[in-house]
Amino acid sequence: MADNEETEVILIPALYKPPALLPVAQLKDQLLYTIETYPVTIVVGETGSGKTTQIPKFLLEAGWCSTGKQIAITQPRRIAVTSVAARVAEELDVSLGQQIGYSIRFEDVTSVNTQVKFVTDGLLLREMLVDPLLSRYSVIMVDEAHERSLSSDILLSLLKKVLRKRDDLRVVVSSATLEAERFLSFFNPDEGEKIHGKSKEDFGCIIGIEGRTYPVEIQYLLEPTNNYVETAVDTVLSIHESEGEGDILVFLTGREEIDEAIDMLGDHIEEMSSSQQKIMTLPLYAGLPTEDQNAIFAKPSPQTRKVIFSTNIAEASLTIDGIVFVLDSGYVKLRNYNATLGIENLAVVPVSKASATQRAGRAGRTQPGKCFRLYTESIFTSLEESTFPELARSNLAPVILQLLNLGITNVIRFDYLSPPPSSLVTRALDLLYSLGALDTHARLTKPLGTRMAELPLEPQLSRALLRAADPEFGCLSEMLTIAAMMTLQGNAFVSHDGGKKQLDAARRRFAVAEGDHLTLYNVYEAFVKAGMGNTGWCRENCLNHKALVKAVSVRKQLAAYLDRFGVKENVLTSSSSGVLRVGGTPLAERVRRCLTTGFFAHAARMKSDGSFTTVDGKTTLWAHPSSVFFTRKAGWVLYTEIMETRGKVYIRDLSTVDMDWLTEYAPEYYKIRNGR
Ligand code: CDP
Ligand code: MG
Repeated sequence: MADNEETEVILIPALYKPPALLPVAQLKDQLLYTIETYPVTIVVGETGSGKTTQIPKFLLEAGWCSTGKQIAITQPRRIAVTSVAARVAEELDVSLGQQIGYSIRFEDVTSVNTQVKFVTDGLLLREMLVDPLLSRYSVIMVDEAHERSLSSDILLSLLKKVLRKRDDLRVVVSSATLEAERFLSFFNPDEGEKIHGKSKEDFGCIIGIEGRTYPVEIQYLLEPTNNYVETAVDTVLSIHESEGEGDILVFLTGREEIDEAIDMLGDHIEEMSSSQQKIMTLPLYAGLPTEDQNAIFAKPSPQTRKVIFSTNIAEASLTIDGIVFVLDSGYVKLRNYNATLGIENLAVVPVSKASATQRAGRAGRTQPGKCFRLYTESIFTSLEESTFPELARSNLAPVILQLLNLGITNVIRFDYLSPPPSSLVTRALDLLYSLGALDTHARLTKPLGTRMAELPLEPQLSRALLRAADPEFGCLSEMLTIAAMMTLQGNAFVSHDGGKKQLDAARRRFAVAEGDHLTLYNVYEAFVKAGMGNTGWCRENCLNHKALVKAVSVRKQLAAYLDRFGVKENVLTSSSSGVLRVGGTPLAERVRRCLTTGFFAHAARMKSDGSFTTVDGKTTLWAHPSSVFFTRKAGWVLYTEIMETRGKVYIRDLSTVDMDWLTEYAPEYYKIRNGR
């Protein structure tokens, strides 16, 4: 392989390639013409061809914002939204939040000057609640549409409707794979139908971007591995020893595996001789702090090989240059919904062939590369062709709540890109009904149902929060804090120096016998008391300062929603000291009762071996190591998070409850269950 000097020559133009040389640049005029002419443009091109970062700039330059309207670009993932927005602002040399901005749940970095706005597909859906025709936008680009995320599928359906009402709107759908025909025929008018004078023939157009890619050599394992994390680390080491230069991208399924792999590799790095080329390990997953994200895209110092351990974020959403070797675990963590149990979780499942191909392609962006599939060739042959749309494997309650609030009454006959199994729709309607969001005619209740739709939280949490001010609970302030802390998704604690002992000790300091929700509440209170700028205190207590600052902001935003609804905090009955009683019920109990009004469906009972079982006794669940009940005993609990890792189902954020509360707050739900 090339010596250092030559490698530099290969890497530099790749990392600092001026945007003009990106494949999409050659199609600029054609793209602008098509977008001007057709309501719908489908853009297909390899990851890295410049779709996400360049098309918005072309549109801006061509005057699509001159009438005061904005351009929106949606992404399925928050991390892609923030990273790409930052990149475009940098390319244009403007400060982020001005001309170029972004908006994700609970974080709006836009201003009156914003013309190009990057946004999650879910958030744009939410905007439709206040602006059903999305009238502030001239162009909407639905990016990564091939991923078939729940929100982007629904968004496409709704945009199809909007296009029938607005002849000035342009929709761009971008996809990394060849599902283009399907998208186009979805948008097209029916045979003989005309929309704004346009028929099937002149309504939409597909543009393919010819990307330059290099050959990628694929290698399989001869025998399957039962620990792909370990195999990945071993493979990284053997590449480092025997292959030429180039960065390595390893696809794992989640943060825990990524941390594990980095630890394992770290032990080996310490043993390496100092004369060897260095290894720099980097994690990449959703929720990664911005500084760490930047490190991914930074050019490594000479003599250093970057090894990036990533979730499938790096599959298409983010382009990292300089990758020559790809290691594919063959697995991905996907949202999964068990409609019978009513449990939504993230399960580790084999990737599809399309995903595996896409992953391999990451190795051949800047020079010929190699992809090591950490599974056998016969396993590859047995993989599904493409990933099942998220819509068909999700709890549809949140999205159906939104559709209903948009006035779409027949959610079963709605024009879905691919219709979900009707059992999922029925199940969602059932859940919404038992939460009081729907009446017996499947109409949204007022005000509860409409307020639940408006709150940017999952329906169960919305419901609990909206009931917190009821005199029998009187815990609005506490529930606001708990809801805000729950949005951190387990990131309140962090081990700063990798010290697990310190982390456990810190958790114990805040732990409350009643469970994790009140523990989170404790953490928040202590944080505010210590002073929000007190990063030293956070460090001492293994707390994630940034995350807690975020929680304070989220709490404010949630409080503003409730304020607007006229749901008032009752200072007389609410007290953080925990001693004040309403009708003789202590605060901690009222909080847990209030949580039950929303999460009654997520109940479990601890068995003698410390594991949990669901109400119907059919599923075994385990307390997540971060939970108070990982070590302590409990009877009945309710949980607000569930996830699956290597075949084991973990529940996180648990609170003790009385079994009687379940039937007290959800009589119909448990009656129906028992009767079945
Ligand atoms: O959307 P698509 O996959 O077609 O490409 P893109 O995300 O617009 O990326 C175009 C180019 O910009 C790639 O060569 C990336 O390496 C580069 N880029 C970057 O260096 N840093 C970012 N944060 C985003 C993109
Ligand atoms: Mg892109």
